[in-house]
Order: sequence, then structure tokens, then C-alpha cells
Amino acid sequence: MEYVAKTFILPALDGISAKSIEEHIGLYQGYVKNFNAMSALLPEYAKDSEKHAHALAELIRRRSFEFGGMRLHELYFPQFEGGAVAASTSGAFFDAVAKDYHKIEYLVEMLKAIGKMRGPGWAILYWDPSSQQFQTGFTGEQHMGHFVTLPIILALDVWEHAFLIDYGAQGKGKYIDAFFKNLNWGAIERRFQQASA
Ligand SMILES: [Fe+2]
Repeated sequence: MEYVAKTFILPALDGISAKSIEEHIGLYQGYVKNFNAMSALLPEYAKDSEKHAHALAELIRRRSFEFGGMRLHELYFPQFEGGAVAASTSGAFFDAVAKDYHKIEYLVEMLKAIGKMRGPGWAILYWDPSSQQFQTGFTGEQHMGHFVTLPIILALDVWEHAFLIDYGAQGKGKYIDAFFKNLNWGAIERRFQQASA
């Protein structure tokens, strides 16, 4: 069954232009389209896997790249929906952040530092329900370097396409600041609740 691109209701953002978001959504839709197109080829290649060995291997590798791009963007855009909302100053998420990072500002510092790493990818905050702790990581491209099985709580896109229009090739830091300025922590806390349930 084909995947269908989702729509997002985004407010005007501070420091991330409508043009940038429009282009970014177009890229997201491309991931969905490419994943569907590759998936459609798979049964044909599998029928004669020896003949199609090279194409099949490339397809399998690229399919998870496209899937990662699809799913990560479906986590990214909703983080702006509803407009900027500050993190709660009490509750389960607040307590968990306090335990692992002392305070939310230190968690944000960590994510900013990871986001500024060189190369395309994502800075990601995961929650490990089994050990009751956060993990942070850098996902190269879309699909490599994940903390396998851990639910994603926050996804910060640091590919150049996320900031090139507004800040140029060297503007990653300014874009990351804008990301956190517009972030709806309510969305992050809802994911944390779901992951903890
Ligand atoms: Fe992106």
C-alpha cells in the first residue's frame, strides 16, 4: 500500500521563512514519492534477484534512506504546529529532563551542539522507556546512526536545505537558534508521554 504525504498546519515562523518551509515540504513529499516508487520496483527485482543483484542492493539501501526522510520530516514539521510553546515547569517531562540534564537549557545546549556537527543529518532526542533515560544522537543522512528501537521525542533537521535559503551555507547555528525559538514543547512533551505509557 502506498504511503501518502501528510499535510501540516504551520504558523508564520520567526527566522524560518515561508519560502524555506515551502521548499522543505516539497522535499518531504519527494521522500514519500520516491519511497513508493522504489517499493513498487521491489517485487520485480526479487523475481530474478541474481540478474538484478546490483540494482536490488542499491534499491534496498536507498529505500530505507527515503523512508527515514519521510518519517523524520513527519516528526519535524508538527513541532512547529500551534506556534512556540515553552516547556512545562513541572510534570513528568520536566522531572525526567531535570534528572538527566539538570535543566532544559542544558538539554537544548546538548542538542544544539549535536546539530552543529558537520555533515547532513539530524540531531535527535530519544527516550528509552526501559531504562527511563534520554539519549541524544546524530543521524547521518536520514537512516544511519539511530538508537535502534528508541522512540524519537525531538527531531532537529540540520541538512543544508533546512537553512540555506534563510541563512546561507554557513548559517546552521542561526537556523538552530530559530528552530528552538519556534519550537512547541507541548508537542515534545506529548511524544514523551506516549513513549512513557
Ligand atoms: Fe529536511
